[in-house]
Amino acid sequence: MSAPMTGEAIVVAQVGDVDEDEGIVIDASVTGTVGDIALFFDGEDYYALDDTCTHETASLADGWVEDGCVECPLHAAKFCLTDGTVQSMPATEDVYAHAVEVDGDDIKVFPNPERLAK
Ligand code: FES
Repeated sequence: MSAPMTGEAIVVAQVGDVDEDEGIVIDASVTGTVGDIALFFDGEDYYALDDTCTHETASLADGWVEDGCVECPLHAAKFCLTDGTVQSMPATEDVYAHAVEVDGDDIKVFPNPERLAK
């Protein structure tokens, strides 16, 4: 699932708000999406994925960031930070990715149009 850079960019955080190899939850009311978004920082870049794991209900923002992936804190499925593709069981479905841009100190997310609340 790609992360098209279309639509309105929304400032969701500031540089420094996310510790290295960590994630934070951005509430759906901020992004206008159907669910919360997890914003990750791997020490170099920021990434945004749907926060809820596709296996069961766990917050990926609480997971572990390593080697370009986030590992779900509940049963350890892994998802690619770049495009949300599932990398290991027990999850079998990708999570949606959202494009991210850093503009000065602002971290902006372009909510994936497929995940916007109607
Ligand atoms: S809830 Fe994420 S792997 Fe089970």
